[in-house]
Parts: sequence; C-alpha cells; structure tokens
Amino acid sequence: MNTIDSLTLTRPDDWHLHLRDGAALSAVVPHTARQFARAIVMPNLKPPVTTAAQAVAYRERILAAVPAGLAFEPLMTLYLTDVLAPDEIVRAKTAGVVAVKLYPAGATTNSDAGVTDVRKTYPTLEAMQRAGLPLLVHGEVTDPAIDLFDREKVFIDTQLIPLRRDFPELKIVFEHITTREAAQYVNEASAFTGATITAHHLLYNRNAIFLAAGGGAALRPHYYCLPVLKREEHRRALVDAATSGSTKFFLGTDSAPHPAQLKEHASGCAGCYTALSAIELYAEAFDAVGALDKLEGFASFHGADFYGLPRNTGRVTLRREPWLVPETLPFGDAQLKPLRGGESMQWRLA
Ligand code: DOR
Ligand code: ZN
Repeated sequence: MNTIDSLTLTRPDDWHLHLRDGAALSAVVPHTARQFARAIVMPNLKPPVTTAAQAVAYRERILAAVPAGLAFEPLMTLYLTDVLAPDEIVRAKTAGVVAVKLYPAGATTNSDAGVTDVRKTYPTLEAMQRAGLPLLVHGEVTDPAIDLFDREKVFIDTQLIPLRRDFPELKIVFEHITTREAAQYVNEASAFTGATITAHHLLYNRNAIFLAAGGGAALRPHYYCLPVLKREEHRRALVDAATSGSTKFFLGTDSAPHPAQLKEHASGCAGCYTALSAIELYAEAFDAVGALDKLEGFASFHGADFYGLPRNTGRVTLRREPWLVPETLPFGDAQLKPLRGGESMQWRLA
C-alpha cells in the first residue's frame, strides 16, 4: 500500500471559531491566520456582538492582530437574542456580516443573553430568510431534566425540525455536530442545511475526558467542550459524514481558548483550543480512514460554496512529519493549553 507523505490543498477556511477580545485575541489570531484564509468569528463576547456596528468594530480589532505578511479575512456574525430587531439584519447584511448565531440561553460559554424561546425571534428569522443570511445553531436543549449526552438529539426533535418547517428557505448551519442523529438529520435535509464538524469530535470520544491515553483514570479538562464528546459510535458517524464527500459537511474548529487555570478548575470552562494545529488534526482524522483525498472538499470548498463565497485560490502543503505540540502558549496574563499539548502530531503544515 502506498502511503501519502505530502498533501497540497487549496488554502482552507475555518467556518466556526472563537477569537475573544483584548490580549487573548492578540494571542490567538496569529495561529488561525497562519492556517486559514478566512474564519467565521463567533459573537459570544462579554457583552455579546448584537449590532452591525459592534461587528464592524470587532472586525477592525481582529485585523489589527493579524501579523504583517499574512492575509486573513475575519467573517463576522451577530448574536441572536430575544430582542434582536429585524432592522438590524438589514444593517448587518449591508455591513458585510455573514451570519447570525443562535445560542439557546444557558447552553454554553457566554450564552446568558441567548434565546429563551425561538418563537420570539421569528420576525428576525424572517428578515434573515429574506436577506439570505444564514442562521448558525448551537444545537443543544438546556432543560436540566435532559441528560447532557442527549441534548443534541432532543434539540433536533423539539427545536430544529419545527424551525425548519417554519423557515424552509432559511440557510441553517448545524454547528459542531457530535452525534449520529445529527449527521443523519443533515444528510437527509434540503440543500439549505449544512453542518460543521470539529477536529476533536473526529479524533476523540468521551473516554478522552475521563481516561488517560493509556487507559488509567484521569479527569482531563482540556478535552471538555460543548457539545460534549460522545460515544465511539457517534465519533465514527461523524468521520463517515466528514469523509463522505457530501458538500453539506465542512470544517469548523470551534477552537475556543480559555485561560488554563479556568479549565483546570473545580468549575472548569468548556472549550478545546485547536487553532494552533487545526488542519494537521483534521489531516490525521482523514488519514486514519484512508480519506485524505476528501480533505480538500471538506476544508476548502464545501463551506465557501454553502455561504456563496468564492473559493480561495492560494495553496498550502501538509507533510507527514512528526512534531511536538507545545504544552503551553502565552495568553495575555495567563497561559493557554492547546489540545495535544506535549504530544506528537503526525502531519505538519509547511
Ligand atoms: O466548548 C465550547 N466552548 N462550546 C461552545 O459552544 C462555546 C465555546 C466557548 O466560547 O468557549
Ligand atoms: Zn463555538
């Protein structure tokens, strides 16, 4: 059997990314800008990005953090609330905002201002459907009675199916899907539905949160994110979806930096930091199932096509070459611990 040792791709994009603000922003933007031509930037700042003017100002702060010599385009989003006005959608579209993010209130990091009942947002969703502005969905219910591991599946049945029925031509991205049920839902949906998949959900199942690599008991907070890692059968279903060649699935890292001391904490934050080695992590996941030939579509074409944006023209090269991920990275006054820190990677971006 031939092993492939080098892979050249059209420069990829990250269709789901957290960059934060201030010193944290300056620390992480260079990692993404080195790997990706564009990224969809999540609006869950404190306070959230809820107006076109705030999105434009945030874009300027991101651009100011891009290292000289790198071309990187942040694609901005608004944070949907119960009171986001339909007029703001028109202003956002004019200002170049590319999408609006739905966080069910309380579902994840900085989601307190999120939506309490999706029906309250219907006039805004109508404006988005008219303007062709996609809705990006954190697809988990927040009912405390629902088991954490079932929240995505229950969201599909109780929220997403009715939403889709009421807005048949609204573009919806089911973000960071984590289950077989979500992959199946997206596969069977119309062309107005797409989904992002993270590298960590392709590479790890929920054992990674609770067991050391060798198998012994170890609580590993750097593997804790939301939606949480699921069972192996779900990981396999995600790998099948990502490597199927279906244009509905595309790359979205959900790279989400937190200060290390807030992850290694009695009440630790959700989020995995993967931006440093994102495309290499995806290459590993695709390589593991002999599907490197499907990486370019997933990483560089399907997302741009879904959003109606031009494909990138630059190229990047990955080589099979082991390298060690640093254990910690500077992060303002704190430290940032990347996923795989202190461990070896198989692929390296040239
Ligand atoms: O793990 C996560 N972290 N999931 C999210 O949905 C948000 C993100 C963050 O902002 O930290
Ligand atoms: Zn996210």
